[in-house]
Amino acid sequence: MRKPIIAGNWKMNKTAAEAVKLVEELKPLVAKAKPEVVVCVPFTDLAVVGEAVKGSKIKLGAQNVAWADKGAFTGEISADMLKELGVEYVIIGHSERRQYFGETDESVNKRVKQALANGLKPIVCVGETKLEREKNKTKRVLKKQITEGLAGVENFENLVVAYEPVWAIGTGLTATKEDANATIGYIRRIVGTTFGKEVAKNLRIQYGGSMNAGNAKDLMSMRNIDGGLIGGASLKAEDFAKVVNYKEN
Ligand code: PGA
Repeated sequence: MRKPIIAGNWKMNKTAAEAVKLVEELKPLVAKAKPEVVVCVPFTDLAVVGEAVKGSKIKLGAQNVAWADKGAFTGEISADMLKELGVEYVIIGHSERRQYFGETDESVNKRVKQALANGLKPIVCVGETKLEREKNKTKRVLKKQITEGLAGVENFENLVVAYEPVWAIGTGLTATKEDANATIGYIRRIVGTTFGKEVAKNLRIQYGGSMNAGNAKDLMSMRNIDGGLIGGASLKAEDFAKVVNYKEN
């Protein structure tokens, strides 16, 4: 059985003070949560949020990790730095990193390997753009992102994939549950043929892209969807808690 995982992606929102306020509000609301609950916060919030979530249901996540151990990589943050603050999960290859910061399947692959080698759990993002979808290239794009982004990975136990159609991110346009389920099913097949059937069966794959309190239950009812990566709706404790507690809604 794959345990559902709901992760908030705060992106570049919340100062340290605002971050503490948000997690303190969130803690009681998700205290009885059934899924795994993660908040992926800006680097500058990690220390205070790490302290605030101790002893709670909420796990700490970051939004990127360097592929090198240390050294001359201005602006990057290493796996050691994250681990010391109690980080467990790290988002890698989010479409915004690919779009604005030159992230490629090759750099994603290096970061994924570095995360795994250092005991961090990557949440690897894949997904097609609107144009790619319109040109019927979704499968080709996803196949490349999966086979190249995860090339050489041997241990998938600690790895999560997030399928985030770029056209659905922050737009209010959610993929239909059938569509998301079918595409995630395709990702699972690619994982199966590339890395083996057992890996595919056990790999947790989230949906992301305008997932919120109103559609989480529907999306989560689908066989292939094992969780969500939540942007906008993770910035308010009540909204995020409703996604986490989707079963009760
Ligand atoms: P959204 O973002 O929920 O605001 O669409 C999701 C994401 O980018 O991870």
